[in-house]
Amino acid sequence: MEYFEQHQGGERAILVSVSVQLLDDLDAEEFRLLAQSAGAEILQHISVQRNKPDPKFFIGSGKVDEIAELVQELEAELVIFDHSLSPAQERNLERILKCRVIDRTGLILDIFALRARTHEGKLQVELAQLKHLSTRLIRGFTGNLEQQKGGIGLRGPGESQLETDRRLIRVRITQLKEKLIKVQQTRLQGRAARQKAAIPTISLVGYTNAGKSTLFNILAKSDVYAADQLFATLDPTLRRLDWDGIGTVVLADTVGFVRNLQHDLVESFKATLEETLEATLLLHVVDSSSPNMLEQIEAVESVLKEIGADAPILHVYNKIDQSGDSAKIIYKSPDFPDRVYVSAHSGEGLALLSQAVQQCLLGQLQHFNLVLKPAYGKLRTQLYTLNVIQSEHYDEQGDLHLSVCIAPQKLEQIIRQAHLPLDEILGEKAALFKRPLEEFEYVKDQ
Ligand code: GTP
Repeated sequence: MEYFEQHQGGERAILVSVSVQLLDDLDAEEFRLLAQSAGAEILQHISVQRNKPDPKFFIGSGKVDEIAELVQELEAELVIFDHSLSPAQERNLERILKCRVIDRTGLILDIFALRARTHEGKLQVELAQLKHLSTRLIRGFTGNLEQQKGGIGLRGPGESQLETDRRLIRVRITQLKEKLIKVQQTRLQGRAARQKAAIPTISLVGYTNAGKSTLFNILAKSDVYAADQLFATLDPTLRRLDWDGIGTVVLADTVGFVRNLQHDLVESFKATLEETLEATLLLHVVDSSSPNMLEQIEAVESVLKEIGADAPILHVYNKIDQSGDSAKIIYKSPDFPDRVYVSAHSGEGLALLSQAVQQCLLGQLQHFNLVLKPAYGKLRTQLYTLNVIQSEHYDEQGDLHLSVCIAPQKLEQIIRQAHLPLDEILGEKAALFKRPLEEFEYVKDQ
């Protein structure tokens, strides 16, 4: 998502950042970028400090009057708060300000609505928007509804919200939930098919603007894109590719994370992030040039923890062309890379990224389909003893097909020790072991 565009002619908005007891770590720049990416033309950005929130307006009534004058003077159509507001506060503010008011949750939902690319993602956003709006049906300022259609916070499903009564919204919510269950079932079938085909999923996660999509496109394009109808139709953000030295993987791009993601939003997007939960490996893309890098890493990892993602994480410190870092891998232990420094723009460090991903995957449990000639029976016995065989059947030639779940390192070790041919047994998955690992300096995690 490109943020740094000015939206002249966008919705004319005044931004209000409120810091309560100086406890909020407000990031004014990020708030501006969020508002811009929702298409706002920012007229003025006001900062307010409070000891505690005012129950009626969230901010003091004096400030509200001040903003009301600004709204008149600058002909603002919208006031956006970088904080959550209760439905009553939103209504009270709209009454005095005489324009629409949206809070941080409304703003983020709006951006999600613009960004949602998959059918499932769109349904999730619609459901979350309806839930958010159902408590806010009576607005303090309705203005001219026709003119407002398609405005920030009213886009997508929200369009006819205000004319609809709660009963209709409840019906729609039920319909959406049913549709979502169906879409999720289709996705689960896709995932089961991938597991059966023994393809690892690598999921890109990261703070908004870290460079996930840029990296996704480079990785997906730098390789022959084997169009696979199943995945292509299932979800456009899942791409099957042949990664040099790693073999076939499914790469998943996910929605960007932001600071202070409300708990109910995290809940709503759990399903969309399910690919992340089920991934073999997570690539956490970090903007290494951001002054808020550490807070952003923390925000992402706390959401990952909250949704219960426990796949191993490789940090990808992107944008080293701006941060001045050099391309390198930092190891947690000799076998486990912790982070790799790259630039998706200049291409620096991308070979190291492949290297690090390969090393990470070697240590993870993965699905393999093995084909064993009758003479390789000893290998089956060993795998059986390890209790890693999930299913098995014989084909017409008498070859045994085994589906196993095992760490590649372990599998390679057993096959090599038995002096059996890797290629014959593993098929295209043998690529995982093809590239000899280069030696890297072992840098201890600081
Ligand atoms: P969301 O969609 O908001 O989650 O963002 P994203 O993480 O997908 O980021 P995206 O790929 O859209 O990149 C954000 C901005 O960073 C774009 O302007 C990119 O051109 C820029 N960018 C990405 N990678 C690099 C890099 O290596 N160096 C520099 N200088 N800029 C980069």
